[in-house]
Amino acid sequence: MDRCNFRCPYCMPKETFHEHYRFLKTNERLSFEEITRLTRLFVDLGVRKVRLTGGEPLLRPNLAELVGELTALEGVQDVALTTNAVLLAQHAAQLKANGLQRITVSLDSPDPEIFKQMSGGFAELDRVLEGIQVAIVSGLAPIKINAVIQRGVNDHTALDLVERFRGSPVIVRFIEYMDVGNRNHWSLDRVVPSRELMERINSRWPLHAVQENYHGEVAERYAFDDGLGEIGFISSVTNPFCGACSRARLSSEGVLYTCLFATEGVDLRAPLRAGASDDELRALIADSWHRREDRYSEQRASLSRTEHPLRKIEMYYIGG
Ligand SMILES: C[S@@+](CC[C@H](N)C(=O)[O-])C[C@H]1O[C@@H](n2cnc3c(N)ncnc32)[C@H](O)[C@@H]1O
Ligand code: SF4
Repeated sequence: MDRCNFRCPYCMPKETFHEHYRFLKTNERLSFEEITRLTRLFVDLGVRKVRLTGGEPLLRPNLAELVGELTALEGVQDVALTTNAVLLAQHAAQLKANGLQRITVSLDSPDPEIFKQMSGGFAELDRVLEGIQVAIVSGLAPIKINAVIQRGVNDHTALDLVERFRGSPVIVRFIEYMDVGNRNHWSLDRVVPSRELMERINSRWPLHAVQENYHGEVAERYAFDDGLGEIGFISSVTNPFCGACSRARLSSEGVLYTCLFATEGVDLRAPLRAGASDDELRALIADSWHRREDRYSEQRASLSRTEHPLRKIEMYYIGG
């Protein structure tokens, strides 16, 4: 879903994504049937894990139906959802009933004012916390929280976020503020390196490193020495993980991107709607994947602005 009910300045700043911004029209977005067919073809090519994201995926009417179709596909081992959770309380039980196992919620600060400010003025902390609570009661597990940390904005509330969820079933993961898209006025001095944050947390609640769950896991995991759970760090800026990245990203309108920082993708919707066969579509996907040379995060430091065109895909368009 390209639309969102928040305007987080680091993702969809209000000055660009205002009321006259042209989002996709309904018929420009892939239908559930089209998404399911393409997913089946990706699965034929080796994909095992699918994540629904956005924009805000819960703005898509009847999203649980899509979850049901995707979880029923043979070969799909894991369907995940990333959401701002404003609408989660009303949808969690149906999502779980249709086969969703786990969920990721974005929550940048436990301070209601800071959280609201970081959503562009739209977030109500209580609604998000209620959504998380209903998700727990509905049996979604694990529940992970993504928090984007920006120096001088919410870094002083990071430990409060840890404290709030320590000892609960919720796993907090800190994401370094990234230079996705071209519209969030990113600057390196706003990035809080994971290492720095980890050391601050470690001096309050001692931590030890935990093995990755699977090869290519993006979060580095640390458990509390006292047994009260774990936290994670996603360090795309200070410790890029391009070499282990096996993610393909499909936009709402059916363009395939092989990197979060891509400048162009391959349109799958046109051939899909023109009647391409499964074989033809699989060949297009495979070809794009085999040509892939993306390693933007590893090159970030050495690329000057002129070397990297100012046309990176925006985060809301292909998800996190
Ligand atoms: C683009 S959102 C889409 C899903 C949903 N709207 C949400 O916020 O969870 C996915 C994730 O990307 C993260 N994100 C967005 N812009 C970012 C940036 N500039 N740097 C780091 N993470 C970012 C968000 O915090 C969120 O956790
Ligand atoms: S981070 Fe998520 S909630 Fe915030 S503007 Fe982007 S898509 Fe919307």
